[in-house]
Amino acid sequence: MLFRAWIRWMLLHGLQRFYLLWLARRGDPLGQIAVGSDRLLGSSQYIEEIRQRGRIPAMSGVRVTTDYELCRLILRDRRFSVVTPNHRALPKPIRWVMTKTDLGLPNLAEPPAMLVTDPPEHTQYRRLVGQAFSPKAIVKLEERIVEVTDDLLERLQSKPRPDLIVDFSAQLPVAIIAEILGLPAEMHSTLLKWGDTGAPLLERGLAWSTFRHAIEDLVEVKRYFDHHLDGLAAEPGDDVLSLLVKGGELTRREQVANAALLLDAGFLTTVNMLGNGIALLTRHPDQLELLAAQPELWPRAVEEILRYDGPVRMTGRVASCDVDIADQRVKSGCLVLLSLAGANYDNAVFPDPERFDVTRANAADHLSFGSGVHGCLGAALARLEGAIALRALFERYPDLRLDGPPIPHPLRNLHAYRSMPAKLHAD
Ligand code: HEM
Repeated sequence: MLFRAWIRWMLLHGLQRFYLLWLARRGDPLGQIAVGSDRLLGSSQYIEEIRQRGRIPAMSGVRVTTDYELCRLILRDRRFSVVTPNHRALPKPIRWVMTKTDLGLPNLAEPPAMLVTDPPEHTQYRRLVGQAFSPKAIVKLEERIVEVTDDLLERLQSKPRPDLIVDFSAQLPVAIIAEILGLPAEMHSTLLKWGDTGAPLLERGLAWSTFRHAIEDLVEVKRYFDHHLDGLAAEPGDDVLSLLVKGGELTRREQVANAALLLDAGFLTTVNMLGNGIALLTRHPDQLELLAAQPELWPRAVEEILRYDGPVRMTGRVASCDVDIADQRVKSGCLVLLSLAGANYDNAVFPDPERFDVTRANAADHLSFGSGVHGCLGAALARLEGAIALRALFERYPDLRLDGPPIPHPLRNLHAYRSMPAKLHAD
């Protein structure tokens, strides 16, 4: 298993890592974004560099776009497929090896996770669980989200130096998604650990040790869900995972992959939306004042946080045939990188994009949840958690401030903080 994993790592990440490092050393903006050293603020500078080269320039063997309209078009265009480990852009021998080294683990970046599966299978997976995440279904969770939030905020008081990521932002989303999926509260810390090791799988050019840890944990994830879904198959409940097993429509592998995806997607990014939001709001006290005076602005503030510093910076698609777009021919098999962060700073759509403005009228047009058939399934849930949690935090602790600079997460595509020590009260 480890040897197969290594081969897979080498083809998926290792070779790419060397290439990206080489590009970064030459100052190439793509290399810099993927593996360069100035991680957080640097990325917007490189995004601008890419924008200067055109709407969908060819760069280092791929196409890249930071253009809002093109990102949205491509995400909604059925001629573009999701990116899988053996996607069409790869040479045949590599695709053959990828098939041979398939580890059969519930990796969120590999099929049959719906995120990386094209229709018609994608349609089937999404249909099974879609209703449970509709805005109408999610509104019913409001009271529970408020309850969990209040409880977490109360507990912050007893911490000598509360960490707003570890003690708050990470705890709320995991508690809520675990309840939706019907997973017990005792599992929270294990789920968080699995999330920590699994999140890097959405990145490119991982180090071998990071990939290996993720794979080792995925073996446990698979074992856990296999067992859990066995139980649900015998006796389904009214949770979302039971919807995946009911009727026996999906194979066990499909069930486990999508259960693991719902779990990871359900908290990994929301943690970062909350963390990025806290960092932004504490840096913009004028915006906090506005929110204190007009609390009805909170949902819009969440949209602006998602636009200004969305957790997912980039996604990708592969052209399944030649496609003419913005006076360019994107060849069949070409990988197109879509900079969601770039799209959200496109001043054709968001005037004065560098300004953080919680009253921005069209903030909700951001692409931080993607768009089209793969548009985020959990968007309504994330929005509700964001508005409740951020409002409650700042209303309960109006003198809240960060105790030193927050520590950024080493991840690149997921924009996040790992730790955010804070002082809840004025000295
Ligand atoms: C602020 C929080 C969140 C952000 C920024 C976010 C972002 C995204 C993005 C960008 C995509 C599309 C990726 C692509 O097309 O390549 C996506 C898909 C997805 N998200 Fe979210 N997400 C968030 C929260 C959630 C939550 C709470 C859930 C709960 C289950 C969730 C579940 C999913 C699923 C299942 C998909 C795949 C949908 C499909 O392929 O049809 N997400 N998300």
